[in-house]
Amino acid sequence: MLPLEAPSHPDPYPSYANLRLRGGLQYLEAPDLWVASDAATVTEAFEQPALHVRPHQEPVPGMIADGPAGELFGRLMRMNEGEAHQVPRRCLIPFLNALDDEAVARLTRHRLDASKAPAPSDAMFRVPVTVIAALLGCPPEHETWLAERTSRFVAGLNPLGHPARRDAAHRAAAELMKMVSGFETLPVGSKNALAPEVLVANLIGLLSQTHDATAGLIGNAMLALKKRPTLRESLTHKPERVADMIEEVERHDPPVHSTKRYVETPCQLAGTWLAPGETVLVLTASANRDAVLAPTVDSFRLDRHERVSFTFGAGRHQCPGRRLALAIATHVVTGLLERREYFDTLHHHGYLPSQHSRMPRLTSTQEEHA
Ligand code: HEM
Repeated sequence: MLPLEAPSHPDPYPSYANLRLRGGLQYLEAPDLWVASDAATVTEAFEQPALHVRPHQEPVPGMIADGPAGELFGRLMRMNEGEAHQVPRRCLIPFLNALDDEAVARLTRHRLDASKAPAPSDAMFRVPVTVIAALLGCPPEHETWLAERTSRFVAGLNPLGHPARRDAAHRAAAELMKMVSGFETLPVGSKNALAPEVLVANLIGLLSQTHDATAGLIGNAMLALKKRPTLRESLTHKPERVADMIEEVERHDPPVHSTKRYVETPCQLAGTWLAPGETVLVLTASANRDAVLAPTVDSFRLDRHERVSFTFGAGRHQCPGRRLALAIATHVVTGLLERREYFDTLHHHGYLPSQHSRMPRLTSTQEEHA
């Protein structure tokens, strides 16, 4: 199995262990990339300034470059280095850090409780994106529309997706930019510091970054609980421990397995010289299982003394949405645990196709009979 196929494999972890055994940095000929798989090499990759988030010759993927989706993509802090990365990051991190935990809890429960038995795809995708939309000032009547357009934009970025999705992504990007520019409560302070189109793109970036990753976290947590009825029972009586369970899921069976880096100028990684134009796959899900971190890395345990995880990245591009993602997932899963029979009705049908994210395909009996 190739590391880019691993996130949708039933159990990719033994193959990650093999990669780590062979050494921190391995060259794989077929996809023509280097793979960083242990904790030390992954940490070094995130800290290396010569490793950039996009290839020099292709700042926007060719498949979407020609249209609104490419325009939006090119303005995202996630996809830039230097000022185009730092300025939006400086503006939006204080906004994200200042979000009120109570408001996040209330919004999440309210969006989840719109249905007695939420379809798994609603709990995974719609609820988190509508919560972020509400936090950004989206009028409630437009939240579902916004979540749906975010799905279309994100689907168009997936190289494994059908080419027809690109046109839909361009239309969705144009519609999202128009809608988000009209929000009245855009993050205070950001309006003056950022060009309006950069602020709008990066707010859509918050929605799109939430989309797959938070869905994967919630979905993988649902699966972990489906497989462990005793844990489910115990968390039903101690809901205050759900937050620990979510953190263990993001470490043990993470929603994001890897990210890519592109060599901008000659540099060394794990003692190997890399040349401009080469690609490094930073396999965070493997680094989480590196035994140097703890002897029990392979087991699923809520009572970890110190939990080390690379799932949210590290260094200058480290995820600013970690606290929010963990909170939303905790409130969704707590709400699902209150629906006593919910987990017995879940069916697992493999994983959605993705090179970097692990999102289970889940359905419920009610949904199938509807
Ligand atoms: C379980 C959920 C999530 C996971 C696993 C996750 C993971 C990550 C990772 C690994 C990165 C770094 C990518 C890299 O260095 O190549 C990242 C970046 C980012 N994430 Fe998240 N994320 C999650 C949820 C969120 C949420 C909810 C938001 C926003 C509300 C968010 C916003 C961002 C942004 C804006 C960046 C770009 C940061 C930068 O380039 O400086 N993420 N995320």
